[in-house]
Amino acid sequence: MTVPTLGKDLVGLEHLSAGQIQLILDTAEPFKEVSERPIKKVPALRGKTIVNLFFESSTRTRISFEFAEKRLSADTVNVAASGSSVSKGETLVDTARNLEAMRIDMVVIRHHSSGAAQFLGDRIRSNVINAGDGKHEHPTQGLLDMLTLRDHFKKLAGLKVAICGDVLHSRVARSNIWGLLKLGAEVAVCGPPTLLPRGVEQLGVTVLPRIEDAIQWADALNILRLQLERMEAGFIPSLREYNRVFGVTSDRLARAPKDLLILHPGPMNRGVEIDSDVADGPHSVILPQVTNGVAVRMAVLYLLAGGAPDWVSGSGGEER
Ligand code: CP
Repeated sequence: MTVPTLGKDLVGLEHLSAGQIQLILDTAEPFKEVSERPIKKVPALRGKTIVNLFFESSTRTRISFEFAEKRLSADTVNVAASGSSVSKGETLVDTARNLEAMRIDMVVIRHHSSGAAQFLGDRIRSNVINAGDGKHEHPTQGLLDMLTLRDHFKKLAGLKVAICGDVLHSRVARSNIWGLLKLGAEVAVCGPPTLLPRGVEQLGVTVLPRIEDAIQWADALNILRLQLERMEAGFIPSLREYNRVFGVTSDRLARAPKDLLILHPGPMNRGVEIDSDVADGPHSVILPQVTNGVAVRMAVLYLLAGGAPDWVSGSGGEER
């Protein structure tokens, strides 16, 4: 059997095959253990130079990529828009070409424009990894969500996952939809009509109009952040109203036919899309998602650098 490869860049899950997604998830498994070691390091990317180019705020993704890179022994540099010549008007491509002139190997990019990662990947030789581009995709978030679901349910095929909230503005939703459907899960979206993309059902998802419907239907809820910075546009009447109608509360979950696994990509608006007793409750895997983020990102970096999936059985995975 031929083992799939990832190609040069990871821009999204839309154009990956089920085999490629499976490969990343399976490669992440042995990397989980590296983060549990007293010395959290393997030499897999020794000698590689990686630039983390973050043009938008990030806590989890930026730090998680940096940990993943350091745990693989890569050399890393972080570049933010403020403090770099981007703030003087330098273009994305010029910035990246100047970095390449310093002989880098990979770029991890977060950008406010949908398509920025693809645009860059088409123009530079280095591997490009999308760490979230506008409303397009956030592939490593989708992958870590899938790994967390697989950890809990042991399989993704046939699993019912409801993605709840501000789907319209969510790159996380898109990556989850593409990835989960490819691996055979059933996906529903639930939110106010103003926060659901028009024609979303054409992606192959079910639309559930009420949060109570999602809670009745699903095995797991992936609760999206209400993107408060966009709410002045009048997508919802008020935050209180949103919480009253769509908030995931313990009272609502108590009426579910089974215990639902609770995911949230973060950052959370406690008391808006999710109540604290749910976020911190026994069925929440919000922090395990963050832990899995490091392993997934190690897997992506490793595979794009040309690593073999069976690394753990060879000497390449051991620190010497
Ligand atoms: N989930 C996520 O992308 O979080 P950050 O914006 O903090 O990276």
